[in-house]
Amino acid sequence: MSTSIAPLTQHPLWAALQAQALRLDEEGPSIAQLLRADPERAKRFSASAGGVFMDYSKHLLTEEILAQLLQLAEAAELPAAIDAMFTGEAVNNTEQRAALHVALRSPYANTPQERLAQDTLARMERFVAAVQSGEWTGHDGHRIRDVVNLGIGGSDLGPAMAYAALGAFHHEQVRCHFVSNVDPLHLECTLAKLNPATTLLVIASKTFTTLETMLNAKAARQWLLQGGVSEDQLHRHCVAVSANLAKAASFGIAPELVFPLWDWVGGRYSLWSAIGLPVALGTSMAHFRALLSGAHAMDEHFRHAPLERNLPTLLALLAFWYVDFWGAQSQVILPYAQPLHLFPAFLQQLDMESLGKQVRKDGAYLDTNSGAIVWGSAGTNGQHSFHQLLHQGTHLIPADFIAVAHSHSANREMHEQLLANCFAQSQALMNGKTPEQAEQELHKQGLSSAEAQALAPHKAIPGNRPSTTLVLDALTPSSLGALIALYEHKVFAHSVLLGINAFDQWGVELGKELSTNVYSAISAPEPCARFDASTNALINRVRHE
Ligand code: F6P
Repeated sequence: MSTSIAPLTQHPLWAALQAQALRLDEEGPSIAQLLRADPERAKRFSASAGGVFMDYSKHLLTEEILAQLLQLAEAAELPAAIDAMFTGEAVNNTEQRAALHVALRSPYANTPQERLAQDTLARMERFVAAVQSGEWTGHDGHRIRDVVNLGIGGSDLGPAMAYAALGAFHHEQVRCHFVSNVDPLHLECTLAKLNPATTLLVIASKTFTTLETMLNAKAARQWLLQGGVSEDQLHRHCVAVSANLAKAASFGIAPELVFPLWDWVGGRYSLWSAIGLPVALGTSMAHFRALLSGAHAMDEHFRHAPLERNLPTLLALLAFWYVDFWGAQSQVILPYAQPLHLFPAFLQQLDMESLGKQVRKDGAYLDTNSGAIVWGSAGTNGQHSFHQLLHQGTHLIPADFIAVAHSHSANREMHEQLLANCFAQSQALMNGKTPEQAEQELHKQGLSSAEAQALAPHKAIPGNRPSTTLVLDALTPSSLGALIALYEHKVFAHSVLLGINAFDQWGVELGKELSTNVYSAISAPEPCARFDASTNALINRVRHE
């Protein structure tokens, strides 16, 4: 696969697509008109894979535009890029690494990476069985009741999200907790409810150097010691997941208690590795394996389905279309499923750490926009908060709705209300309400013409706002795996369209470097005068004399 493909802005279709976007915006047809004009549109603009159904008919998109976007994907050599990722080429070119998270969920053992993954799964299986059966106990013989994952970023967001999403599959005896922030209150509030004798720490850090995790691990270790666990029994309460065995060992974790990770797995793509250990401990190994197989089904689809029916590719093209041709700056993620309430936060890291880049793989500055700002929260809560801006604000914000057909709750009425709200929101975004309609309604309510005219602009809703709706049949480990993999591959496909590296994250390093200097100033005995006036004043305000 070539690393120096010309930017898509140089492709003849770029200008054609710009003209199409302008025409659609100024002259229409609107999304609602497109749907009315074509009774087959909802059917044609939908696809499914791995148990995920995707309706993308409510978009500012025609057959012709989609065909042209697909041609751009071909011009960006997306099929070759997909192949390169799956076959372990160094697609992370700035670190000369493969990105083989797909090997972690492969059922085969054909490659060295697949074999390492299988061996680790077998180790996890034995450990999970021992903890869940009570064979693995704490220092005084009591079974483990609470697992505390100490990790941040990819070593926290994935497992925390998946554990929450799989609430219906939680183990009866083992509960999981996730501590990520270096704010000591995060750890202290979590540990305050727990008993050291029945608690297992999982120190999850690919590098085993991340400041937040190291400080949390040190403080949690102290909590164990103060709680009656002796040094020589710490191993019963503390395991690690890391690619850095030496650092884990110097922290005092024996090699047999370190579950491995490898440099070919990016942090934000690591849920499928032993980083998922808390998910397995808090549900079961069988559920964890089902999560992997759901993701694998999506991998197979991404690798083999033609681009025009390829869900991750379609999602990527839609994101690209709005960011680069409509000026959209953000993408809202709206799971209408409370168990998925952490999904937007997980996607923020996945998408923004992967696509928040200003240069292409060859080092040339992007002449397109990078990925969008990803945000959102669980519906229906957002409807009573930020949806106002989606409906009447001046920004174009494409929305991804995620619905679940069959709930784990027996309360059918409430679940159907949830679904109704989800579909009504996408309808409202699309249809809006014209000032004339608003005025008529106000008339009917008995307002005078003058009153109705004055109020109508406030009640009018522009509509024509695009959305995708994803529907899972049920929220199971397998469908969750497929959903996450769908977005992972969307991000990769989007990176290929932009020509950027989705697997590095150099931008986060500067803040880490500077915080070391700032920390030494905050903790120094004398007032700070070494930085800019603003930073000095802030430091001196919080310093303890
Ligand atoms: O600071 C960003 C980051 O490097 C993420 O990419 C990563 O997921 C996170 O920190 C945690 O890193 P580690 O697992 O090495 O502690």
